Amino acid sequence: MSKHAAGIAGMGVFVPEKILTNADLEKMVDTSDEWIRVRTGIIERRIVEGDTATSDLAAEAAKNAIKDAGIKPEDIDLILVATSTPDMIFPSTACLVQSKLGIDGCAAFDLQAACTGFVYGMTVAAQFIETGMYETVLLIGADAFTRHINWEDRDTCILFGDGAGAVVLKRVEAGYGLISSYLAADGRGADLLKIPAGGSANPGSEETVRDKLHYVQMNGNAVFKFAVRILHEAAIGALANAGMLVEEIDYLVPHQANIRIIDSAAARLGIDKKKIIVNLERYGNTSTASIPLALNDLYLSGKLKQGDNLMLVGFGAGLTWGANIIKWY
Ligand code: UT7
Repeated sequence: MSKHAAGIAGMGVFVPEKILTNADLEKMVDTSDEWIRVRTGIIERRIVEGDTATSDLAAEAAKNAIKDAGIKPEDIDLILVATSTPDMIFPSTACLVQSKLGIDGCAAFDLQAACTGFVYGMTVAAQFIETGMYETVLLIGADAFTRHINWEDRDTCILFGDGAGAVVLKRVEAGYGLISSYLAADGRGADLLKIPAGGSANPGSEETVRDKLHYVQMNGNAVFKFAVRILHEAAIGALANAGMLVEEIDYLVPHQANIRIIDSAAARLGIDKKKIIVNLERYGNTSTASIPLALNDLYLSGKLKQGDNLMLVGFGAGLTWGANIIKWY
């Protein structure tokens, strides 16, 4: 066992003020509140307005986490931002967040694993602490997917919302904090969920805009089937790595994409529904932010106690999937 373990010393979130309800969407595309509720579980979502970018959401969540952890921004050794909607291709959103926090010098970089970004980020961030290289890491999951949504496409525009969640990771007693991770990917599924233009393969041009290639494209049905199967696989993988049984998990915090995905995977795992944290009815799918937003709800509920085992499970574009098990300190 490593000498150092990485645990959550503080948490914070931020969502934009503007609420977009299912009723609002009924006026924009051929959909209904009932269809959205029944097929996804979503009732409303938060969306960015004006010039608000991912780094703005991330920086606000970070400030809240820093305050909650009782540290100073200067104490941070590394800022790691998991996002697939960076402010721009470069510089990294992490560098922009660093500047918004009024600090300099510490390491900063982005990590891209789509909706699995927070789980990948937790695993990566913890390595720096476990090796003893850093003491304090700020991990943020932030996305502003509604910036890349075609508001005429009812298949996708009803699903996404914007937000950010941050954790301050610090050294904790061995045996606590992040005790197990499972990460996986299958690039053969890259076409199932993507934004085709704006990168080096297909740089932005009049044609890409005309063909709406800078918007999110998704094969919803295929992603749905993948998600149900993989949420289960990721959970089992992390349990096996920890040498634990599903009964030992006190809370499951899944990526908040669709209530039917969560329910099916939970039934397959045989985990008590009362242990599952769900808030997608309020936020929709906020991609990388969804797990920390749900985790923060659990944190604020006051139910968490030392020794509780939490499981975070993510899945998304790439395709990517993964899970973390955290023993609460
Ligand atoms: O973060 C990870 C990424 N994303 C996900 O995890 C999303 C995974 N996929 C899903 O959540 C679901 O596939 C959706 C919610 C996107 C769609 O639900 P579905 O049950 O798979 O519906 P479907 O695509 O099979 O469509 C069923 C019907 C179709 O009509 P027909 O062909 O049966 O006449 C669609 O055209 O529902 C129609 N439909 C809609 N109707 C009203 C599709 N979108 C809408 C809509 N409102 N917004």
